[in-house]
Amino acid sequence: MRPGDYRCFIGQAENCGSGTRLATLGRAFTIARPKLARVMRKSLIAANWKCHGSLLMVDDFANALTHHTMADVVVFPPAVFVERFANQALNTVDCGVQDIGVAESGAYTGEVAGEMAREAGAKWVIIGHSERRNDQQESDELIAQKLLAATRAELRPILCVGETQSQREAGDALAVVEQQLLSAVAKLDVSQISIGAVAYEPVWAIGTGLTATPQQAQDMHKGIRELLRQIDERTADETRIIYGGSVKADNAASLFSQPDIDGALVGGASLQLDTFMGIIAAA
Ligand code: PGA
Repeated sequence: MRPGDYRCFIGQAENCGSGTRLATLGRAFTIARPKLARVMRKSLIAANWKCHGSLLMVDDFANALTHHTMADVVVFPPAVFVERFANQALNTVDCGVQDIGVAESGAYTGEVAGEMAREAGAKWVIIGHSERRNDQQESDELIAQKLLAATRAELRPILCVGETQSQREAGDALAVVEQQLLSAVAKLDVSQISIGAVAYEPVWAIGTGLTATPQQAQDMHKGIRELLRQIDERTADETRIIYGGSVKADNAASLFSQPDIDGALVGGASLQLDTFMGIIAAA
């Protein structure tokens, strides 16, 4: 009998998924877990402004993103602008922070705790962006702790994973991404990742103008979904896996046409309203 199958008893039935108590009375027989209907994942388009922007830009974006679209739209301005964005924006766009600290509070100069970000209006948080992994030496262990802190603060995490150029050339891309993904979710109930997203961002494509081909991106997204499936089928089906790395209005549609690409994390092209809106329109 496999996890998720149902063991039925005369007069009673209970789910025998992992950790579920087995009934002991009656005559038992087993029926297979019902197949999940194909899950429709709503696209997610996220703007990572990095260390760019101003109050004026916050107002421009919040005032322009006022229409419901086919996608969920999230803007990640620098943390000091989050409250202004959240106050200005309609419910057509969410905002989030680009990072959080691990602790809820304490003597951590410069850190912003998840709870503080949420109080300021953030609903989302980016965890493990390659610029933080590389520039701030964030380890897999720290990223796992931040992911836990995000869920504790009830922020939706976008967990970033991705290989460097040399790792890809060595044929290690999937192994690198697997290690990043599995170590990040190790402290969580994996289903919690489905309230956020996983962003596949090959480091060689970020800010370089080089974009993974739709097929390269699809292959990795499919690999990520298969990894999630080995842990939990429903999480694999429900989690949005978005692509990041030089996404532009003119390459977005071909990326989004792939079955496992559920949106984009956009850096440079999210700083101009018209190009960002072009990407939203492609979703
Ligand atoms: P890019 O950045 O779109 O400028 O390549 C993406 C990212 O860093 O999330």
